[in-house]
Amino acid sequence: MSASQNSEIKRITTHRLLEMKIKGEPIAMLTAYDFSMAGIIDAAGIDIILVGDSASNVMAGHETTLPITLDQMIYHASSVVRAVSRALVVVDLPFGSYQGNSKEALNSSIRIMKESGAHAVKLEGGRQIKESIERILSAGVPVMGHLGLTPQSIYKFGTYVVRAKEEEEAKQLIEDAHILQESGCFSIVLEKIPAQLATRVSQELRIPIIGIGAGNGVDGQVLVLHDMVGINNEFHPRFLRKYANVHEVMLNATKQYIEDVKSKDFPNEKEQY
Ligand code: KIV
Repeated sequence: MSASQNSEIKRITTHRLLEMKIKGEPIAMLTAYDFSMAGIIDAAGIDIILVGDSASNVMAGHETTLPITLDQMIYHASSVVRAVSRALVVVDLPFGSYQGNSKEALNSSIRIMKESGAHAVKLEGGRQIKESIERILSAGVPVMGHLGLTPQSIYKFGTYVVRAKEEEEAKQLIEDAHILQESGCFSIVLEKIPAQLATRVSQELRIPIIGIGAGNGVDGQVLVLHDMVGINNEFHPRFLRKYANVHEVMLNATKQYIEDVKSKDFPNEKEQY
């Protein structure tokens, strides 16, 4: 049943997120890339689902987010949208689909919205993508910004360490956050920056600031689902809290299944026709 058919489910909108910031109600956001997982986290009441380009890492096994294509992002996004009744679905514009010029950014955003049914797009970067943000918004597509550690620029940074620790980079980040807000972004993700800096940005801006590795002084938090539920057990950054050990659960279940098949315990009489 879609949210419009079910009057009890009130969809999260960009307007509602703004109200949450005003009321001091923290925003919970997670990534998802497929129908089954998106259905679970939507049913749990997550506010925003990000179809992140981290799909390149966790779904496809690439070392970086750079290889994932626009077509692949649309495939993941449409699978997520089909499962969701409540959450706002935001989709990352992948590397190479918006950096060329603002027309390319607009065309990529329109493809995502039209072909997946998602509700908003996310772009990495500050002042250099201002024109693209304004052009995407002119077509009525809500835009979320992303500053701090921006994984699509990993080869420029050279490392995934904390960003904006030095005064000059922190100053630039604050300016960029204001530029994104004035360009019309409805929210900004701040990734892996000092908590004090993220708190300052959140206090200065009207729009909700969602942090990942940016401390508790922001308006909401985002984590990669596969890290949060412990599917991926090789990633242990300080900012990650693991809420389950799904890796272990699946490993043990699979071992037990193999044992049952090999011993002919499965299927038993009740499990056959
Ligand atoms: O792609 C992603 O998962 C992200 C989050 C880390 C914010 O951009």
